[in-house]
Amino acid sequence: MGRLDDKVAVITGAGRGIGREIALLMAREGARIVVNDLGGNQDGTGTGMIADDVVAEIRGMGGEAVSNMDSVAEVQGGERLIATALEAFGAVDILVNNAGILRDRTIFNMEEADWDAVQAVHLKGHYACSRPFARYIRENNRTGCRIINFSSVSGLIGNFGQANYGAAKAGIAGFSRVLALELAKYGCTVNTISPGALTRMTISLRENRGEQVGDDDLEQGGPHHIAPICVWLTTDAAARITSQIFHTGRGGIAIMQQPAIIKQFHKSSGVWTMAELDRHVPQLMAAKKAHDEAVRQSSIPVNID
Ligand SMILES: NC(=O)c1ccc[n+]([C@@H]2O[C@H](COP(=O)([O-])OP(=O)(O)OC[C@H]3O[C@@H](n4cnc5c(N)ncnc54)[C@H](O)[C@@H]3O)[C@@H](O)[C@H]2O)c1
Repeated sequence: MGRLDDKVAVITGAGRGIGREIALLMAREGARIVVNDLGGNQDGTGTGMIADDVVAEIRGMGGEAVSNMDSVAEVQGGERLIATALEAFGAVDILVNNAGILRDRTIFNMEEADWDAVQAVHLKGHYACSRPFARYIRENNRTGCRIINFSSVSGLIGNFGQANYGAAKAGIAGFSRVLALELAKYGCTVNTISPGALTRMTISLRENRGEQVGDDDLEQGGPHHIAPICVWLTTDAAARITSQIFHTGRGGIAIMQQPAIIKQFHKSSGVWTMAELDRHVPQLMAAKKAHDEAVRQSSIPVNID
């Protein structure tokens, strides 16, 4: 018995990296899989047939899978992707919005095409695949579905040279919180992953810094470390967990904080004066500093071995 027997999962960008590991683990847990991947270059140019290789791997393990090579960056691509699952397996239970590209530039050098391509695959890609899935859920009153979205430290905390990618990844966190509210009545959970793994996307960054990536590095920090929490969140055990952001990688599993008011003052007798702000903004900053320190303390990893 697998944890995902009788489930159908659609995984975008599953031809390599994190998506492929999720597809393989979900198949091992009994799910039937639609492996989506455009198969292009890291910057979003080109196409390739890599989704078929992952389908062959899953079938070789005795699992069921079909491929789809549509681009998630187009609304029609997202619609065809969900239609592929319905044609092949007659249902969809899980959508993993994982596909991604990079076009890193500082703001000084970022061309409109670099901005647009990254927004299209990441932020619009989440919309393009989630909308047909959400409509399918509503039209069929299908309960207990799951959506896993992919954000990044780049958008949640910030990373030099990734304004396009960081904006899209922060947008995905906001998108996920709204989707969690809108799909709650169908028992569909929507959670977000902030991964850290050695894949095509990150190995080139390390190599550009002159660092070598060997087999040991891949074993300790590869994309197979990301798959377990993604898969677990789609099982019955996680039916009540929604609108959360999990950070994972290299043996770590963490829950992240989300925007919330830390401290506030209220004045009912008119608008704030500059002098009052002189007095009260430093108190807000002090509360923020204390909060950040408490979070820093509680984020120190607890070893479970
Ligand atoms: N690797 C990390 O440390 C890391 C960190 C933060 C966030 N992420 C996010 O995790 C996700 C997976 O990244 P990865 O590291 O496995 O990258 P990867 O490059 O190994 O895999 C991404 C896959 O998405 C596919 N893809 C790109 N554009 C597509 C499109 N328009 N339609 C369909 N498929 C498309 C690519 O062909 C590729 O196979 C991405 O969303 C990425 O932004 C990764």
